[in-house]
Amino acid sequence: MSRIALVTGGTRGIGAAISKSLRAAGYTVAANYAGNEEAAAKFTGETGIPTYKWSVADHDACVDGIARVEADLGPIDILVNNAGITRDAPFHKMTRDQWQQVIDTNLSGVFNMTRPVWPGMRERKFGRVIVISSINGQKGQFAQVNYAASKAGDLGVVKSLAQEGARYGITANAVCPGYIATEMVMAVPEKVRESIIAQIPAGRLGRPEEVARCVTFLADDDAEFINGSTISVNGAQFFV
Ligand code: CAA
Repeated sequence: MSRIALVTGGTRGIGAAISKSLRAAGYTVAANYAGNEEAAAKFTGETGIPTYKWSVADHDACVDGIARVEADLGPIDILVNNAGITRDAPFHKMTRDQWQQVIDTNLSGVFNMTRPVWPGMRERKFGRVIVISSINGQKGQFAQVNYAASKAGDLGVVKSLAQEGARYGITANAVCPGYIATEMVMAVPEKVRESIIAQIPAGRLGRPEEVARCVTFLADDDAEFINGSTISVNGAQFFV
């Protein structure tokens, strides 16, 4: 029987590419989404991958949603924490609400999703937790104090989980995409986006599939010794 993978924010952008890539690699995939019903319906229509609606920022909703997925498909072996939001503003204009929304989704969301699946992974002696962090969690970014803090926090989560999970056959790794051609990056003002692309030695934005390739690599049964890593997928824009 194939392993079960759950991808948060798995119906659009990088998440959709991850869902499809895992499916192509033979996994049974469920894609979570928070709000965009139309995109989710289109995604299921195109791929046949079932979608489940809840917000990763809501702990109880995560517990219920995971229970629904497991009742339908079986225990989750691979969790991809991909769901993320931006609420960009220069710090002098950033509101408490912009700070909190980003932390609740991008950082607490990882706790909310991983905590419920962790005991089962320990019992079954297998698990893959993959967190989609960001280049901006590694280097910081103008107008992203909230986002950079959440994504840097994700790296600390992964490094700690790796140490706890290793003896149970569980790995936790982070993927740090650079600027990828998704709605999130396209929302950046064109002038700013052009200046960002000028800083990418590859001379272009990344493709969602290039991030998905990395996730599928980490999900493999044979990837057990790759644990606590941070892998950059950024066209040589930034080195740690
Ligand atoms: N570096 C330096 N200066 C920047 C800048 C940057 N990256 N981005 C904007 N600025 C400057 C502008 O040039 C402008 O300068 P002037 O006032 O001298 O013209 C100033 O900041 C804008 O100041 P405002 O007070 O007018 O800012 P605003 O309240 O209108 O906010 C903004 C505008 C939200 C900062 C907008 O410019 C923006 O969205 N910038 C991009 C931020 C960014 O890069 N986000 C990444 C999103 S993609 C992502 O997050 C995915 C991932 O993981 C990589």
